[in-house]
Amino acid sequence: MSETVLEARGLGKDFWEGQSVLTVLSTIDLAVECGDRVAIVGASGSGKSTLLHLLGGLDQPTRGTVTIQGRALSRLRERERALLRNRTLGFVYQFHHLLPEFTLLENVAMPLLLRRGVSLTAVRQEARGLLGEVGLADRASHRPAELSGGERQRAAVARALITRPALLLADEPTGNLDPHTGEGVYELLLALNARHGTALVVVTHETRLAERMERRFRLDETTLSPL
Ligand SMILES: Nc1ncnc2c1ncn2[C@@H]1O[C@H](COP(=O)(O)OP(=O)(O)O)[C@@H](O)[C@H]1O
Ligand SMILES: [Mg+2]
Repeated sequence: MSETVLEARGLGKDFWEGQSVLTVLSTIDLAVECGDRVAIVGASGSGKSTLLHLLGGLDQPTRGTVTIQGRALSRLRERERALLRNRTLGFVYQFHHLLPEFTLLENVAMPLLLRRGVSLTAVRQEARGLLGEVGLADRASHRPAELSGGERQRAAVARALITRPALLLADEPTGNLDPHTGEGVYELLLALNARHGTALVVVTHETRLAERMERRFRLDETTLSPL
């Protein structure tokens, strides 16, 4: 039995540039079920990041709705929206966005530390477990600058998963990596999908990687079409 994690209906975004309007997304419909693996490909500037930001509630649509686990984002106050995001979604970007002054363990633990009523010991244990899962168990006390690009991106994946999100939104997560290292990050995402049932929506330029996802879409001319 499948359960819908996220649903976008008639989702659109316009940007105003002076007097003229730029329609980046016209009307996008997309439903993501638990455990789904979705790839979105599209040329640079086609609106992929804009779409992921809307899906993740990081930006407001011009039209249409995003519903996450049955709750329409537009009906929530900013604080409730942030809570729903923290509980349901994980984000991975092209750039890792790890905080340079903190160790990997602290970086990975951060999203859980933002929750109330969690014990520090439990959080550290959870973060250690996840670092192990992404193959960085022996790097817990290192800082991001001491890691390779691939390791940093694996740490970013661990940080995104510490809240056990139902859905991971990834925006060109391998865009800054060489093909071999990128492949490793993909293997990791797929393994986590298989192990924990985390649904994946991954934006990528790399067709070879997109082919590993069971559902593929192309974003072009403001609309999303199945590939
Ligand atoms: N905040 C913004 N204000 C104005 N235009 C924007 C803004 N964000 C994105 N755009 C424009 O929307 C289009 C899509 O951008 P983006 O979603 O980043 O594309 P992609 O991720 O596919 O490369 C681009 O033409 C970009 O210039
Ligand atoms: Mg982008």
